[in-house]
Amino acid sequence: MKILLISSSPRGEAGVTYSLAAGIARGAQACGAEVQTEHLAGKKIEFCRGCDACHKGGMVCPLNDDAPGIILKMIGADGIIFSTPNYINHVAAPMKALFDRTSNLIHCQRLSGKYTASAVSSGSGQNTPVSDYLASYGRLCGAQSSGAVSCGPAPDAAVLQEAFALGQKLAGDIKTRTVYPEQVKEMLARRRYFAEVIKRRRDAWDGEYDYYAGKGWLS
Ligand SMILES: Cc1cc2nc3c(=O)[nH]c(=O)nc-3n(C[C@H](O)[C@H](O)[C@H](O)COP(=O)(O)O)c2cc1C
Repeated sequence: MKILLISSSPRGEAGVTYSLAAGIARGAQACGAEVQTEHLAGKKIEFCRGCDACHKGGMVCPLNDDAPGIILKMIGADGIIFSTPNYINHVAAPMKALFDRTSNLIHCQRLSGKYTASAVSSGSGQNTPVSDYLASYGRLCGAQSSGAVSCGPAPDAAVLQEAFALGQKLAGDIKTRTVYPEQVKEMLARRRYFAEVIKRRRDAWDGEYDYYAGKGWLS
């Protein structure tokens, strides 16, 4: 069972958020998961240019930086832990830049069958907009959310225990392929929506049309 931890604090492992995310990772590892970490700090992730290339042909982004490799790891993982500080009630900019590069993952729900969890920290401890956004981003890509942990500037033993328990839940969801009916309902409705859009734009989004056809998702 492979889990990818994507950390977007510029402070990397010295950051508060990573200590929380590492708690999730330890919980998952205790259940047999192998966790690989990608710190976005120091990585080159250009802004999406809206060129449409990822919807065409082989669905490959033409920008030559670190994003395509990380995106391939997202596709190859069974679960993803998102770790970000709350920056003005959103994820930190490198994580948003990465997400903007994943339009194809959203159109084609390429994280289907996977599970996500998130760790968010802030000065105020008021992180619901950020953790809700991360769960919704995962669902946009077809992944169900196992949950979130959140803390203020100083995570205490109780929240670290909560993080460990979330890691165990994430690993359990992956093992047993838990179905969260409301999340699946939302994702199936969005897939039907995108099937219609992709059919209308078949000439421009030929790669995505072929992907949907191959999955039997066009009807
Ligand atoms: C640019 C910036 C924006 C921030 N915005 C918020 C915010 O909107 N609300 C909040 O409570 N804390 C905010 N903070 C505080 C960070 O979320 C907080 O210090 C966080 O724990 C840092 O995590 P890290 O140690 O993993 O980098 C902000 C900090 C920075 C540098």
